[in-house]
Amino acid sequence: MAELTPAVLGDRAERMINTLGSVSAEPYRLLRTFLSPAHREAANLVTQWMQDAGLTVSEDALGTVRGSLAGAGTRRLLIGSHIDTVVEAGMFDGPFGVIAGILALEHFATAGRKLPFGIDVLAFGDEEGVRYSATLASSSACAGKFDFSTLELVDAEGVSLAEAITLYGKDPADIPAAAYAAGTAAAYVEVHIEQGPVLEYRNQPLGVVNSIAGQTYLNVEFLGEAGHAGTVPMLLRRDALAGAAEAILAAERSARDTKGEVVATVGHINIPAAASNVIAGNVALTVDIRSGSDAARLNFVEGFKTDVRAIAERRHLGLSVTTTRNVATTPCDPAIQDGFAAAIKAVGGEPLKLASGAGHDGTAMAKLCPVGILFVRCRGGISHNPAEYASPADMGLAVAALIKFIEGFKP
Ligand code: GLV
Ligand code: MN
Ligand code: MN
Repeated sequence: MAELTPAVLGDRAERMINTLGSVSAEPYRLLRTFLSPAHREAANLVTQWMQDAGLTVSEDALGTVRGSLAGAGTRRLLIGSHIDTVVEAGMFDGPFGVIAGILALEHFATAGRKLPFGIDVLAFGDEEGVRYSATLASSSACAGKFDFSTLELVDAEGVSLAEAITLYGKDPADIPAAAYAAGTAAAYVEVHIEQGPVLEYRNQPLGVVNSIAGQTYLNVEFLGEAGHAGTVPMLLRRDALAGAAEAILAAERSARDTKGEVVATVGHINIPAAASNVIAGNVALTVDIRSGSDAARLNFVEGFKTDVRAIAERRHLGLSVTTTRNVATTPCDPAIQDGFAAAIKAVGGEPLKLASGAGHDGTAMAKLCPVGILFVRCRGGISHNPAEYASPADMGLAVAALIKFIEGFKP
């Protein structure tokens, strides 16, 4: 077998990324949602790779694939990421972390040297939250923090999470068994593309994450009065879509005013009875608000709610604002940050520290054990976009750094 140099690891990672990237629910764009047939196919592929790497493979009630390498003692290092995607996704967000873990564990399995701790690679299926609004269900279950009330959530087709689990061939009653027993998980680490431009700008292939930004998701619904586009005078309209448009611009303006502290995105808008000749009577939009500072995020949320109330009042619209997610900033463990910094130096990089604006399974896993993330440069900082790209050279260095991290890890 060829020696696992960074160049060899990078080439293998790229081939695996391309193979997994071809598993999609649709022929012309990448889409793999939680517990879908495409998720099943991807999980089968990951299972095969884990077995080929010499790992013992199991799958829990939420479809998380777990590849285990035995070690001495009862403590385990967990390495993971996700294999679900956004709509029209890139191939690297999530899959690279799973692939990096498998390649690193293959290195130790092949060497046949027993480490003083076991290692599990976890391929989660619900990080992007595309199918069910709850998100992080799979990592929450591993952390022993699954919210059973989310089993009643329904997807766009009206299929509940409980039904989707059953259709996937699993039993919701088995969810508690996915949890790690207290004290067995020594740490959770993830390798992930940066999804932003900092490492590229600083000319560094790898970086150490110091925190994962907190998030608030709001659903905002404006209720006006549907009407005929040709007959209702402008001043007599109660146009829900015009109110929504003002709200979108208010979110953008307020986030810009924070000078980089808060980012806010309206990524989805629903006009249930949309037609070009109908004044919209009902419009719902999602607002994704993130910041490394919980105080700044919560302050923004309050300000935005005040703004939308004023918009609705002025336009004589009904309004409902629901918070569908509220997650605090997750600090990364200082000792894991040091371990990744040393690993980056060992492979010739300069360990830059940076915050993650993107969400990660680490937020759920932090309820179980210390967490850390190693970032990998991605071209142009582009992500959630089919143009997402990390070079084989950078991916190879990331796997080599993960191997160094594991070698230095103290459970
Ligand atoms: C997931 O990628 C998120 O940050 O929304
Ligand atoms: Mn991701
Ligand atoms: Mn993502």
